[in-house]
Amino acid sequence: MPGLAHPIHLADTPLPVWEAVEALEGRRWEPPFWAHLWPGSWALALEAGGVVRPGARVLDFACGGGVAGVAAAAVGANVLCADLDPYAVTCAELNAQSWGVSVDVTTNDLIGRDEGWDVVLVGDVFYERGLAARVAGWLDGLERRGAQVWVGDPGRQFFPVSSARLFREHALAPNPAWDSVVDRPARVWEWTAR
Ligand SMILES: C[S@@+](CC[C@H](N)C(=O)[O-])C[C@H]1O[C@@H](n2cnc3c(N)ncnc32)[C@H](O)[C@@H]1O
Repeated sequence: MPGLAHPIHLADTPLPVWEAVEALEGRRWEPPFWAHLWPGSWALALEAGGVVRPGARVLDFACGGGVAGVAAAAVGANVLCADLDPYAVTCAELNAQSWGVSVDVTTNDLIGRDEGWDVVLVGDVFYERGLAARVAGWLDGLERRGAQVWVGDPGRQFFPVSSARLFREHALAPNPAWDSVVDRPARVWEWTAR
């Protein structure tokens, strides 16, 4: 991936991985969002060196393949990668390994929780109305408490622009086999509680 220092585990198209996971599990399973680097986390990973300091406690929320969190770990942060999908956090661990760093992982739903993180990274989660509303309220509380909250978003439908300040735009080239949002820059936003 352009701009990223180390290789990451990705799939060019979703279907074969999704079928393999469902065959393994013997039942319906969530799409393998973790096998794609979404523009939000890609942009956050590119910013990690500037927005994360060594020793910071960082949460990569809804981490997918964990690339934003892994980039933060490469800066020297203590990173927790969180995703409901166990395949996602396993992929995050593998990506950390290939970068020569380690991250903690959890499949717990952390929305509403505050474990004192200094920095919270949120890549590409504003794609569903209900999820977006829950996440936004939670991020408001974290930001008011003093956490720095950075969101990567390429213009998803439910991203609350009024809750954030634009930090930077990245012209990335998402894979159309995965993502319908291919013609907008990936934006990094600093969350500002309402
Ligand atoms: C579009 S993917 C983004 C993944 C990654 N942040 C990136 O940008 O590459 C959305 C991810 O959110 C995860 N997710 C959805 N709701 C969640 C929740 N309540 N807690 C943790 N992860 C969640 C999904 O499992 C999925 O991996």
